[in-house]
Amino acid sequence: MNWLNDNVNLLTLLGAAAIIILTVGVAGKYIKQIKTDKATGELTGDNWDGIGEFSNPMPTGWSYAFLGTIVWALWYFFLGYPIATFSQIGQYNQEVSDYTQRFESKWANPNHETLMGMGEGVFLVQCSPCHGITGDGIDGKAADLTTWGSEEHIVNTVLKGSNGQGYALGEMPAGLLDKASATAVAAYIVQDLAKSGKSKHPELVTQGKALWATCGACHGMDGKGMGGSAPALINYGKAEFVAEVLNHGKKGTIGVMPKFNDGRLTNIQKIAVGTYVNSLNEE
Ligand code: HEC
Ligand code: HEC
Repeated sequence: MNWLNDNVNLLTLLGAAAIIILTVGVAGKYIKQIKTDKATGELTGDNWDGIGEFSNPMPTGWSYAFLGTIVWALWYFFLGYPIATFSQIGQYNQEVSDYTQRFESKWANPNHETLMGMGEGVFLVQCSPCHGITGDGIDGKAADLTTWGSEEHIVNTVLKGSNGQGYALGEMPAGLLDKASATAVAAYIVQDLAKSGKSKHPELVTQGKALWATCGACHGMDGKGMGGSAPALINYGKAEFVAEVLNHGKKGTIGVMPKFNDGRLTNIQKIAVGTYVNSLNEE
């Protein structure tokens, strides 16, 4: 029986046995006393429906035990509790962080194929319950990712506005530009600013650049989002843009997407799922 060789187990068992013996002994003594003893002594003035109270002094042993527990509680709270020493929670956190570090260094330089494979895996586990296996958003249960992140999506965002991601600048109002201007600015973002792909309207890029100041007021003239006050459109269409969305979460009109910045996904997993999500809107 090797668990008896463990000091902590042994101590626990001895403690449990001591508690049982003491409880049975003390309870037995008092039950016997209740049966045989006649109460004597001085009563206090208080009387509750005929039940009186003896004016006995507090038992010394009990008082010391009571004071002892207070001292012990203070010691445990301020000194004894294993904040700086070993704790199982600490050990668990350490193991998780070691594992994450090994995972991150193993996949430090992933190629596109690795990212897509990992991204699909992450997507099916973490995202498909809301966004659907194909990313279509299951009839409006969550955002339709087969159109999100595309050039058209910029046009839609400018026409309809955007909110719910908790940026310092709050909401992006609807209708900042008309459809033709929005199409031009979208061409500029995709092809010139973010360089995430070839625009479908390359002839509009110059016109879009001239209109960019309307957007740059909040997204920064350099498109970097003014230190996190608005999304960094310089990453639009790239995996980093999805990672930014995941770190913010979204309180939408059709539901809530939680923030994924609580350690649920490592950085490389966010980039991987971003790569995969971006592939969903490629025709
Ligand atoms: C008043 C400030 C402001 C202006 C002006 C502005 N935006 Fe935004 N934009 C934001 C904020 C804030 C968000 C994030 C809002 C949210 O979803 O919570 C955002 C989000 C976006 C998104 C991301 C949508 C998504 O699905 O994540 C795109 C694309 C975008 N803006 C494009 C533009 C373009 C193009 C212009 C210029 C026509 C523009 N914005 C002008 C503040 C602004
Ligand atoms: C609990 C359900 C839920 C889960 C899980 C979830 N999402 Fe979402 N997501 C939503 C909802 C709902 C919206 C749309 C809110 C709205 O626009 O009304 C959304 C929106 C989005 C958007 C668009 C955000 C924008 O800027 O408009 C992206 C991109 C996205 N999700 C990606 C993901 C990815 C990638 C995962 C997995 C890592 C994921 N989501 C997991 C519910 C979820």
